[in-house]
Amino acid sequence: MAERKPVHITPEMLEQQKEFALEIRSLPQKPETYFVVTYGCQMNAHDSEILAGMLRQCGMTEATDREHADFVIFNTCCVRDNAERRALGNVTWLKEVRKQRPNLIIAVCGCMIQQPGMAEKILKQYKFIDLAFGTCNLYRLPELLLRTLNSAAPVVQVEDEDTIAENLPVKRLRNDAAYITIMYGCDNFCSYCIVPYVRGRERSRAMEDILAEARQLKESGVKEIMLLGQNVNSYGKGLDGNVTFAELLRKLDDIGIERIRFMTSHPKDLSDELIQVMGESRHILPQFHLPVQSGNDEILRVMNRRYTSAQYLDKVRKLREAVPGIGLTTDIIVGFPGETEEQFLDTLSLVEQVGYDSAFTFIYSPRKGTRAAEMDAQVPESVATDRIQRLIAAQEAGQRKAMERFLGMEEEVLVEGLSRRSEQEVSGKGRHGISVTFPGNYDDIGQIVRVRITAMKNNTLQAERLSMILND
Ligand code: SAH
Ligand code: SF4
Ligand code: F3S
Repeated sequence: MAERKPVHITPEMLEQQKEFALEIRSLPQKPETYFVVTYGCQMNAHDSEILAGMLRQCGMTEATDREHADFVIFNTCCVRDNAERRALGNVTWLKEVRKQRPNLIIAVCGCMIQQPGMAEKILKQYKFIDLAFGTCNLYRLPELLLRTLNSAAPVVQVEDEDTIAENLPVKRLRNDAAYITIMYGCDNFCSYCIVPYVRGRERSRAMEDILAEARQLKESGVKEIMLLGQNVNSYGKGLDGNVTFAELLRKLDDIGIERIRFMTSHPKDLSDELIQVMGESRHILPQFHLPVQSGNDEILRVMNRRYTSAQYLDKVRKLREAVPGIGLTTDIIVGFPGETEEQFLDTLSLVEQVGYDSAFTFIYSPRKGTRAAEMDAQVPESVATDRIQRLIAAQEAGQRKAMERFLGMEEEVLVEGLSRRSEQEVSGKGRHGISVTFPGNYDDIGQIVRVRITAMKNNTLQAERLSMILND
């Protein structure tokens, strides 16, 4: 593949977008309200915060729901077939709303649209869509919206550029916890995965830009940051001066934000240096999302994961040594082409050995354009369904056992909201990444509270309060 250089969006280019936003503000018939519908991973969730930031720059406010918005934008995912179908199902449903409200504007963006030829195909099939654009054009939303408002025909913009844009407007969903994207794209080309095709080549943001964003978030009172990238362990590749993810973490730790998390880590790039930083740091939380995908070496090889199950288990051991009690989570695919019953049993056995706090389990979904989609011996759906059920059962059993280590333990919880079960209880994530519920009220939201774990309830923990932590 030809070498591609990242395209840095200049301050002048962003200034131009601001001009477009101002022009929209001055239009007599501009849309007044927006609603962003998000599918997919945290990366998309954060992109949606940026979309919202730009729409506010255009003078719009958020609608209470999508039925009442003048502008609805779907930020889509295509990692599995059902993600795509769900997005399109909802877009079609809005067609009915539009019949009553002819001025409604409907846009579709994100990973699904970035697939080659997809934007054109969708616009042909769904004639009521007004605007479609890909993941690389995010920063151009004001310009694209203005074009849409001035045009009778739908507007399509899909470029294949590895953009890095700094200082975009952002409307964050939470005040106490914030996402920071540290790198974009992916170069791993796991044979089943569409992400490298829709998110472009891997590129890292400059360390100074990330640190500046983190400092600003600390100033504004943020207590937790979540660093985002498809493969955060290889952060720094292509930047001047041998920068590593471990080094970035060390510097972020020094800023003093209460809690630091990150995802996703690729096992092949998980370095000893990073494990050491995890052990020494004050603010990096004792949790690690380490997708294994399969417990069988032959399947891992064909998946192009570039590690063996023994190497994976070795990293797990080192992590547990450096950070006792660390919360481990993973992603697993069953029914990859050619997966035999014996190979699947290796996955079950790995899950039993590790004892994850939680696991995202998926049935393999062929993605057009990936290598695995062309492979022979696709596994029948009934076999894959049976395997995923057995996998979930094994995972749940392992999880119950793993969670026993928390009973009687003290934990610090960043409160997200009232518990769904009771108004007298609040819940949030503990340092290990597990949801904890305990007695509390509205005033606790956004605070870190010290608790003692008293019981397990399904996938969550129950606790009693010890005291409020006074945050500096
Ligand atoms: N960059 C991350 C996550 C990418 S997508 C990583 O490397 O782990 C999140 C998860 O979706 C993957 O870990 C994988 O388990 C799953 N996934 C990706 N493509 C898939 C496919 N075609 N079918 C089923 N699951 C898939
Ligand atoms: Fe997909 Fe693999 Fe990249 Fe993760 S590392 S995004 S699974 S290609
Ligand atoms: Fe989906 Fe794109 Fe994320 S395909 S999982 S939204 S990177």
